[in-house]
Formats: sequence, structure tokens, C-alpha cells
Amino acid sequence: MIETLGEPGVLRARVAAWKRDGLRVGFVPTMGNLHDGHFSLVRLARRHADRVVASVFVNPTQFGPNEDYARYPRTPERDAAGLAAAGCDLLWLPAVDTMYPYGADQAVRMRVPGITDVLDGAHRPGHFDGVATVVSRLFNQVQPDVAAFGRKDYQQLAVIRYLVRDLAFPIELLAGETEREADGLAMSSRNQYLDAAQRAVAPEIYRTLQAMRDAVLAGREPAVVEAEAMKHLRRHAFDVDYAVVRRADLSDTAGRAVAGPHVALVAARLGGTRLIDNLEFVLA
Ligand code: PAJ
Repeated sequence: MIETLGEPGVLRARVAAWKRDGLRVGFVPTMGNLHDGHFSLVRLARRHADRVVASVFVNPTQFGPNEDYARYPRTPERDAAGLAAAGCDLLWLPAVDTMYPYGADQAVRMRVPGITDVLDGAHRPGHFDGVATVVSRLFNQVQPDVAAFGRKDYQQLAVIRYLVRDLAFPIELLAGETEREADGLAMSSRNQYLDAAQRAVAPEIYRTLQAMRDAVLAGREPAVVEAEAMKHLRRHAFDVDYAVVRRADLSDTAGRAVAGPHVALVAARLGGTRLIDNLEFVLA
């Protein structure tokens, strides 16, 4: 059984004791309903730290009013067992009142300007403010030396990088590779919302990302590649928020890909389920 804490004072004492013993503390924030993507981050943190804390907190401030906060899958027993098996030492499981003592609406909010205005920031207003807010709180509660985030949420990782640098959090960030199902679909807690027919077409997102990468590497114009990807996904019944090629810092290619690191990103809905994925590549 993994030790589970919900009291900030107890958590702080436990982590402080580890640090007094000279142990390096790793941290993996999650919203639970854990899968191998999350567990791979625990194993990554384990390789860079002596003790690993994971948090499970479905954060109300990062969900829009019409999003899936209420029905987001909550599976605490299975999460605790999986974390123990992955080598996690401590589960931080705060109640909503612990995280937001004055209520989620009254919470002091973090905002990372610029990068949160595009892509998921544009399609989910306030989402990244909620992420930056809760991650700041979690960092202060856990006080880790290193923290692991997944590349699956490419823009989120970029937001966290800004946050850590700008607020001088003394935390080293680790970026974990995207874990996929055998057919290429990126693992996600939201995949279980898909019915059988939707699940069957969902891997088309990853296939589209690979086609986008290959086309840009072959010298095709990004705008044309994006338009084709959009058309292809729509033909497979996706409701597409975006299918784009960006420079690694998420800036626009301005129609012409020049040498350097790039990323293709897709956000698309199947029925009511919104899926995101991305693929990084380097243009020589
Ligand atoms: P959640 O969606 O639970 O994801 C927790 C962490 O797991 C994130 O860093 C995410 O990028 C990573 N992750 C998700 N799917 C992955 C996959 N298939 N492969 C590798 N890593 C994957 O992201 C959040 O929660 C929240 O926004 C959070 C940061 C916890 C703040 O509330």
C-alpha cells in the first residue's frame, strides 16, 4: 500500500525529513485515472530522484463551464495500486478545499501571457491559467527538486517551463515521451469516453501527424500540409480544433519551414471527446 496524505502540514514534514537526509525529491502531478503515460513519468522521476511523490487532483480551475470536470474519471484505489507498482513513494491527494481554501472562484490566479493565447489556450479560454495556478500550488505544497511532465501535452509543458523560469521555482523539469497504444493512439484518461467506432478511428490522429511531419520534411509548404490534414481528419468524422505545424517554441512558420526543430499538433473531437496529440521533428 502506498502512503496517501491529504494534509499539507504532514506532506511538508515528510518531504522536509527526506531532504534533511540528503534525498532528492521527484514529483509527478496528475489528475488521476492513471495509465502507462503517467507511470512512465513516475519511472522517469525515479531515475532523477531518490523519492517520488505523485499527486492526484482533478483541478476544477482548468475545466471550462461546458467541459468534463464532473464526469472526469476518478479511480483512486486503482491509481494508488498502480503508483505503488511504478515505484512511487507517496500519494498527495488533496481535497478541493485544501487546494482552494477560499473557493476555486476566489483563488489567486497565475497567468502566463503570450504562449497561452494560441492553440489550446485559444480553444479553451482560461485553461492554462488554471493549470499554472494549480501547478504553482502543488509545487509549493510538495517542494520537489525535480518534476516530470509529459510531452503529450506539448503546450502545457511549455507553459510550465515559463512558469518555473519566471517565478524562479528551484525545480528541475523533466519531459517524458508520449506513451501510445499499440495502434499509435496516445494514452489519455479521456480515451475511455470513446465508443467502439470512435476508438477505431482515433489512431487516425497519430497517422495524420506522421503524414504532416513527412510532408514538411519532404519540402511541402506548411499551410498546404495543414489544410490537407484538416480535410483528412474531417473526412474521418473528426471535429477539428486545429491541425498545424509550428516551430518548437510554438511560433508560426509564417508559411515557410526553415531548418530547425518543429512540432505538428492536432486537437480534434470525436463525439464529445476532445483528443490532443503532437509529433516533434527536426528539419535539416
Ligand atoms: P493529466 O492529464 O493527468 O496528466 C498528468 C501528466 O501525465 C502530464 O504531465 C501529462 O502530459 C502526462 N501524460 C498524459 N498522457 C501521457 C502519455 N500518453 N504519455 C506520457 N505522458 C502523458 O496534465 C494534467 O493531468 C494536468 O493538467 C496537471 C498538470 C496535473 C495539472 O492539473
